[in-house]
Amino acid sequence: MNYDTIKEEIKDIDITLPPPKEEPERQYYFIKKLQHWMELKKEEKGRELTCCVNTFGCQMNARDSEKIIGILMMIGYKVVEDEDADLVIFNTCTVRENANLKVYGRLGQLKKIKNKNPEMITMLCGCMMQEESVVEKIKKSYRNVDIIFGTHNIFKFAELLSMKVLDRAESKKMIIDVWKDTTEIVEELPVERKYHFKSGVNIMFGCNNFCSYCIVPYVRGRERSREPEDIIAEIECLVKDGVVEVMLLGQNVNSYGKNLENPISFTELLRRVEKIEGLKRIRFMTSHPKDLSDELIEYLGESKKVCKQMHLPLQSGSDRLLQKMNRHYTKEGYLELVRKIRKAVPDIALSTDIIVGFPGETEEDFAQTMDVVEKVEYDSAFTFIYSKRTGTPAAAMEEQVDEAVVKERFDRLLAKVQEIAAKKAAEDVGKVEEVLVEEINDHDATLVTGRTSKNYLVHFKGDKSLIGSIVDVKLCESKGFYYIGELA
Ligand code: SAH
Ligand code: SF4
Ligand code: F3S
Repeated sequence: MNYDTIKEEIKDIDITLPPPKEEPERQYYFIKKLQHWMELKKEEKGRELTCCVNTFGCQMNARDSEKIIGILMMIGYKVVEDEDADLVIFNTCTVRENANLKVYGRLGQLKKIKNKNPEMITMLCGCMMQEESVVEKIKKSYRNVDIIFGTHNIFKFAELLSMKVLDRAESKKMIIDVWKDTTEIVEELPVERKYHFKSGVNIMFGCNNFCSYCIVPYVRGRERSREPEDIIAEIECLVKDGVVEVMLLGQNVNSYGKNLENPISFTELLRRVEKIEGLKRIRFMTSHPKDLSDELIEYLGESKKVCKQMHLPLQSGSDRLLQKMNRHYTKEGYLELVRKIRKAVPDIALSTDIIVGFPGETEEDFAQTMDVVEKVEYDSAFTFIYSKRTGTPAAAMEEQVDEAVVKERFDRLLAKVQEIAAKKAAEDVGKVEEVLVEEINDHDATLVTGRTSKNYLVHFKGDKSLIGSIVDVKLCESKGFYYIGELA
């Protein structure tokens, strides 16, 4: 269902009756109530009410924020970038300690803004809120937060907001609604996309892998796949609305569909998505090496729409550490996968995630990681310093590695990654590539910025009429991780 159809559905709802029990009708009911409230507020203030959604973390959170913004806009809020708004939401991440610190920093600043605008509503949601210790800390130290909810009940956003502004308008009490887990997937709520021509599409939620360092399974719950019919219907709707590129999202897309009543493989889903007329490009994230099938690799070689890019997180090149990380593959197994992928799609761009300083990492373990980096020659790599997450098995492991040692290894890895990335990018200079134009360049308004199939950024002369179209661009000069090009 698209935005306009949902709008029509909402029109037909009778808010003099008690709220319906079923979803999404229940949320439509609260959206309508809030629309009425919004009209009165606008009159009272003589202006529009503004909202700001601040997103931390990964693509999952980015997509969740689009859902929240969709509901906010349906209610009648004007979306602004500035945190000096009538409603501010932080959609948080907790994958590494740094992510949490950023949120606390911003919350401190928000206090000052709220002192100036006491009617301002502040909301916190996302992965951090799934941790009890975080919620306790906020209750104690950040009492001006109005609403806290988690990753499992974003669909309830309108209901929670209406509790605050309609039922408890005078109450200063914090509303907290965080669920431990859920089996529910609520479809058919409004979504406002950041780009009109490309979109993320959740194909599954949660994670079952419990890599020993990772908090995601604890804050996102167990793995749940969406029905293929729902995914296809959503993409068809997006394509009608102008989308040409989709990014299929899941923590481990390779295990998509295994737990559905009628099981289906990820490759089969891709085949069905590929058939959608008008859709030009398909990407997906993330592929766990342990579940990457030969069927998928073979399909990559045949597909006309799947982009020449794969993100294949390595984490470590040491068999000993891979086992301690609970990753279920070996260095050699990983390299064999890469060989198969390159055989099927010779010029595919590979990217990865690597953790430095996992408990017990020795110089020899690290050398194995460097060896994989040199052998695979990644087009890009996200490198992370290990961050201890309370509650994960790795947090209880002894032999946490000395900070200075980790920093030194991290710098060596980063230098190697950058050197290889620059070399890889240089290989394509002079080639003509299809580029999906995304936006006017931030620094120079005579340039536009787009992405190649391999997911490289290209800047070239052009104007906003090109945004959303796929054009042939010659890659003239490589700047390491982006190109300067010209329309071919
Ligand atoms: N589901 C994806 C990863 C999601 S988290 C996958 O399995 O590949 C994104 C990345 O954050 C991970 O790949 C890992 O490299 C990094 N990460 C996760 N937990 C971390 C931690 N405790 N410390 C440092 N990096 C971490
Ligand atoms: Fe975390 Fe591993 Fe799940 Fe990825 S697969 S989200 S790294 S537990
Ligand atoms: Fe962060 Fe949650 Fe994503 S912890 S990386 S926002 S799934």
